[in-house]
Amino acid sequence: MNSITPVLALDGPSGSGKGTIGQILALKFGWYYLDSGAIYRGLAWLAQNQDVKADDVEGLVALADTMKLICHVQEGDVAQIEINGQIITDELRSDEAGQLASEIAPIPEVRAALLKMQRRCRKAPGLVADGRDMGTTVFPDAQFKVYLTASAEIRAKRRFDQLKSKGFDVNLARLLESIQARDVRDSSRAESPLKPAGDAIVLDTSELSIDEVVARILDLVN
Ligand code: DC
Repeated sequence: MNSITPVLALDGPSGSGKGTIGQILALKFGWYYLDSGAIYRGLAWLAQNQDVKADDVEGLVALADTMKLICHVQEGDVAQIEINGQIITDELRSDEAGQLASEIAPIPEVRAALLKMQRRCRKAPGLVADGRDMGTTVFPDAQFKVYLTASAEIRAKRRFDQLKSKGFDVNLARLLESIQARDVRDSSRAESPLKPAGDAIVLDTSELSIDEVVARILDLVN
């Protein structure tokens, strides 16, 4: 691993704002951006399309080893995700894709296969890496570590607004249940559970605007 290229590890649960904030910061710094959730979502999507079951560890690892993922960051919009040459940003954002990703994410062999892919994203001049275990497992030597959080209700409302604006038919109460179930699964798994790194700055974004969160992280990095 390159120990000089700077990494900002931005971890936190679903809906904490790390995707939006991470992309703004990557554009400001002129750094690469890694949406690691998209990798897990992308693998789940590939598995579903190629009829590889969530308990077929060998099949999942084979898909992970050949998956080519590119995050195209764009100003004022979510990063476009390209997998094996196909743009599938909207398909990956569905709640179903998130649930499926959360189901395959605890498998140690899957995490090991995806670890190499994530570490290869550390390239000069720098990387903003968003996920659950960026500061704890993927880039434990990251120069900057921030853990974003917010109440489950606020995170569900943010996800609701985001999915609604993309034309998805969503129900707020169901989304809240799904976020709470995913929190439990992501935090209680044995392998790389969702938790702040010991040296991460924890920021509760419940009452903060996007600009306020960006300003606080800029203060930290500068
Ligand atoms: O951040 P997200 O909602 O797009 O992530 C989808 C799922 O992928 C999440 O519920 C757990 C898994 N994930 C993970 O295990 N580790 C990461 N670094 C990122 C995501």
